[in-house]
Amino acid sequence: MSLTPMSPASGPHAAPSQPKKKTTHSVREKKSRGEIITCLTAYDYWSARLVDEAGVDMVLVGDSLAQVVLGHENTMSVTVDEMLHHTRAARRGVENALLIADMPYGSYHSGRRKAVANAVRFVKEAGAEAVKLEGGEKRAELVRAMLDAEVPVMGHIGLTPQSLHAMGGYKVQGKTSAAVDQLMRDAAALDHAGVFAMVLEGIPAEVAAMITAQVGCPTIGIGAGADCDGQVLVLHDILGLTFTPPAKFVRKYADVAEIVRDAAKGFIHDVETHAYPTETESYHLPRETQAAMKNVITKKRHVG
Ligand code: KIV
Repeated sequence: MSLTPMSPASGPHAAPSQPKKKTTHSVREKKSRGEIITCLTAYDYWSARLVDEAGVDMVLVGDSLAQVVLGHENTMSVTVDEMLHHTRAARRGVENALLIADMPYGSYHSGRRKAVANAVRFVKEAGAEAVKLEGGEKRAELVRAMLDAEVPVMGHIGLTPQSLHAMGGYKVQGKTSAAVDQLMRDAAALDHAGVFAMVLEGIPAEVAAMITAQVGCPTIGIGAGADCDGQVLVLHDILGLTFTPPAKFVRKYADVAEIVRDAAKGFIHDVETHAYPTETESYHLPRETQAAMKNVITKKRHVG
C-alpha cells in the first residue's frame, strides 16, 4: 500500500475541476489538438457573463453591436467610444473566456499610428485581450504593428461587413477562382503576419476548408461550413432576438423575443387589472408607527 497521502486534487473528494482561463495561446493549441473552438458575441455584462458561464472559448464584442443592440442598419456608424463602453461592460461579465473587441469602421483605416493607438485603448481602457479587424493582405502590416504594441489580433476575411459599400451588399465571397485565389492569399498574409485566429465569414465551405488546411492559426467560421477550426455566431441570432429574417447559416436555439413580449404583456395586464402589486409585494409601516400616526391610509385595493 502506498504511504503517499491521496492528493485532494485527484482523490474521491476532489473538487470539480475549475474551468481554465482561455488565452490566445490556449485557443491556438486547440487547433493543434484537433479540438473545436467556440465563440459567441456579447455586448454587455449579463450576456457576457451567461455565455462565459456556459463555457464558450471566446467572447467577441462584435461591431454587430451597431445592429443588434443599437438599432443601426449596418455596422459602419458604431464608434470607438461606443465599442469601448460595451467592451468594458462585457469585461465585467467574462471570467474564463478570451475577450476580443472588434475594431469599428474608421478606427484602423486612416493611418497606422492612429490604428495602433485605438487598439491599445481596447486593451488598456476596456480590458480586451485581443482585437479583431477586417481585411486580408492589405492589413498584414497593421497586424504586425499591433503585435509590436503587444496587442494580439484576430483577422476577419470573406464577407467583411465593414466593406458593405465596396462589396455592393452582403454577398457570399470567394465564388470565382480569382476570388478564391485572393482569399487564399489574404489568409496566408494574415497568418504570416501573426494573427492568433481568423474569422472566415460568408464563403463557400470548400474554400474555408482549404484555408483551414493551409493556415497555422485557427479559422473561426460564420457561414463558412463545417470544416473550420471553430464557429462563431451572433448571440442575438441564436436567441431569436432579432427583427429581420436570419441568414441561412443561423441556428436559432431560443425564441427570446417571444419570451420578452409575453413577460411585458403579463406585466401590463397585471398592472392594468390591479393584480400587481399584492400585499406581499409591498412594504408596510411597522404597526407601532401606524398606531402613532393619524391619517395613515390603509385602503386595500379590490382586485377584479
Ligand atoms: O461583429 C460581429 O458580430 C462579427 C462576427 C459576426 C464575426 O464580426
